[in-house]
Amino acid sequence: MGIMAEVKAKARLDIKRIVLPEGDEPRTVQAAAAIVREKLACPVLLGDPARVKETAARVGADISAIEIINPLDSQKAAEYAWTLYGLRKAKGVTEEQATRLVEDPMYYGIMMVKMGEADGLVSGAVHTTGDMLRPALQIIKTKPGNKVVSSSFLMDCPNKSLGHNGLLVYSDCVVVPCPTAEELAYIAISAAETARTLCGIEEPKVALLSFSTKGSAKHDLVTKVQEATRIAHELAPDLALDGEMQFDAALIPEIGASKAKGSAVAGHANVLIFPDLQAGNIGYKITQRVGGAEAYAVLQGLAKPCNDLSRGCSVEDIVTTVALTAVQAQSL
Ligand SMILES: CC(C)(COP(=O)(O)OP(=O)(O)OC[C@H]1O[C@@H](n2cnc3c(N)ncnc32)[C@H](O)[C@@H]1OP(=O)(O)O)[C@@H](O)C(=O)NCCC(=O)NCCS
Repeated sequence: MGIMAEVKAKARLDIKRIVLPEGDEPRTVQAAAAIVREKLACPVLLGDPARVKETAARVGADISAIEIINPLDSQKAAEYAWTLYGLRKAKGVTEEQATRLVEDPMYYGIMMVKMGEADGLVSGAVHTTGDMLRPALQIIKTKPGNKVVSSSFLMDCPNKSLGHNGLLVYSDCVVVPCPTAEELAYIAISAAETARTLCGIEEPKVALLSFSTKGSAKHDLVTKVQEATRIAHELAPDLALDGEMQFDAALIPEIGASKAKGSAVAGHANVLIFPDLQAGNIGYKITQRVGGAEAYAVLQGLAKPCNDLSRGCSVEDIVTTVALTAVQAQSL
C-alpha cells in the first residue's frame, strides 16, 4: 500500500472535522464532495451558502451532506471576535478589528480550530502560505514543548531501498527561512514526530544535513548544524539523531559507514533536516522533479493541525491534504 492509501485508511478510522475556508472555490467544493464519498473526514465549507451551492452545481459536486457556514452571519462570530480580541489585544488588535477579522473566512476557520469546533484546517487553493500561516501562528500557536512551526515533505521515492521503503521525510522546506541552531533542533524533533504520525515510521532516524560530515569541513554554517545536533540530543535524548552529515552519508550505507563510523543514523536515515529553507525547498524539488518522487507537504509544530495547499493544487491534492490533516488531528 502506498503512503497516501495508508494515510487515507487511518483517516477513516476516526473521522475528524476539517474546515475549508475557501468554501466557494471550485476545486475545494469538488474535494469536499470526494472527501465525503471516500469517508475520509467531515468537511465544513466556509462562505456564502448561495455562492458555495452555485459553484457546486456548476462543477457537478454533491455537497448536500456538507455543512456550510457563512462567517458574515454566524451566531458564533461575536464569541470568536471576543476571544480573538483577548488573544491579540496585547499585540494592538482592537475589539473592532477583531470583529472585522472574524468576518474573513481564514480567521473564522482558524478560530473554529482554536475553539475546538473543528479539528483542523486546510486552505491555499487561493490564499498564499503566509495568508494562512500568519493567523495560525498568532492564534493557534505552537504545541506545548515546541517553539517552532515548520513543515515536512513526505517524499515517496521510486527507489524503495532508500529511507523507510522509499519514504523520506524532508524538513523544513516551507516555513523558517534561516533557522537558528535551536530552531533547527526543534525542526528535527517535529519532523521525527511527523514521520511517526503520518508515515508509520516507528523508529525515525534523523540526519541533520550539511556540506560537511563529522567535521570534514570547518565553517560557521557547519558549526550551526553541529550545535543544532547537540541541542536536539538534549531535548530528545531517546531519538536516533545524528549530524552534521552530507546527504549521501545520510542515505547510502557504504558512504555512511566510511564517513561517519559508528553512527546509528548514517547510511540509514529516513528523516532529513536541511540547514535552511533554501536548501530544503530546492532539495525537495530536485527529489520530486529529477528523482521522480511523489511529494506531500504538511505543517508541523502547531498546537492543532492547519495545512497549506499550493495554488496550482488539484482536487486530489486537496483530498490528500485533508486526509493528512485528519491523521495529524487523531494524534493529539
Ligand atoms: C511564516 C511567516 C509567514 C511568518 O510571517 P511574519 O510576517 O514574518 O510573521 P511575524 O514574524 O510577524 O510573526 C507573527 C507571529 O508568528 C510567530 N512566528 C513566526 N514564525 C514562527 C514559527 N516558525 N514558529 C512559531 N511561531 C512563529 C511570531 O512569534 C509572531 O507571534 P506573535 O505575533 O504572537 O508575537 C514567514 O516566516 C514566512 O514568510 N516564511 C516563509 C514562507 C514562504 O514564503 N515559504 C515558501 C513557500 S513554498
